[in-house]
Amino acid sequence: MLNDLQEIERLKKEKNAIILAHNYQTRAIQEIADFTGDSLELCIKVSKIKKADTVVFCGVDFMAETAALLNPHKKILIPDRNAECPMAHMLTAKEIKKAKNAYPDAAVVLYINTTAEAKSEADILCTSANAVEVVKSLPQEKILFGPDQNLAWYVSQQTKKEIIPLPEHGHCYVHKMFNLGDLYFLSEKNLDAEILVHPECDPSVQKFADVVLSTGGMIHHVNQSLHKTFIIATEVDMTTRLERENPDKTFIPALNEAICENMKLYTLEKVKTCLLNEEFIVEPDENIKSGAKRAIKRMMNISKNQNMIELNIKEAMENG
Ligand code: 13P
Ligand code: SF4
Repeated sequence: MLNDLQEIERLKKEKNAIILAHNYQTRAIQEIADFTGDSLELCIKVSKIKKADTVVFCGVDFMAETAALLNPHKKILIPDRNAECPMAHMLTAKEIKKAKNAYPDAAVVLYINTTAEAKSEADILCTSANAVEVVKSLPQEKILFGPDQNLAWYVSQQTKKEIIPLPEHGHCYVHKMFNLGDLYFLSEKNLDAEILVHPECDPSVQKFADVVLSTGGMIHHVNQSLHKTFIIATEVDMTTRLERENPDKTFIPALNEAICENMKLYTLEKVKTCLLNEEFIVEPDENIKSGAKRAIKRMMNISKNQNMIELNIKEAMENG
């Protein structure tokens, strides 16, 4: 009898499938994935897939939904329907419409961590890897930005534009756990460590960082850094990804409790069942597809010109 790993490999061949995983997945899922990356790298990868018929997407709901919008000819499967990103559900299309009426001269920039319905109300999307470049590329001086208020703050520090957070207190419950006191304590104990922080963290934590980066940006940065030790302030399995690529370097999670439970719903058994039964299929609502697609495509065009996403891009461009 085949074990889960062997069965997954067999099913992948039978169904002509590939497995994509976000950097926050567990080691077991990262190891079976054909490609692991941040939100932007996963978008690029999905849009380039030609040979495979089926994609098993090991990330949260908005990521799989974006994949289905970017490559509608592929069957996009998610191993657990409950893998939702709570922050993505903090902003509704109705709230965006209301804000647009209140600020008619503002552009709407939405973080990719939103529902497809909210995306259909956006002028353009962004990820944490390209948010600053996306905002700078727009002619408008006023930007409605949601749903993450901390990423909105980060962008406001990097551009001269007026950034209006939408909703006022949108946040990620995982990144909310980091605080300045803990980070200060850890840095005092590891004086040689470089501090890498995700822009979903509070401004006080971001200010303490040596660098603020997306998860893909962290990988790129560590590859080039002369430091040997790093304190990582983002979801705890990011250190797993970094360790796999840099066995000679040391990664200290800023907080072991910073676990995205939603990302952790996936197991090898669920991936196997997902391939076997070809469920659950991700299919965004017909009525909102075209608006959401337009906003995503606009972002992808900007990202093509961005040097920063050189990180994993060669691998991301290879067709699956
Ligand atoms: P990245 O795009 O940096 O991987 O971030 C996605 C995310 O959900 C962070 O919490
Ligand atoms: Fe959403 Fe936060 Fe999990 Fe990222 S870490 S998927 S923002 S809940």
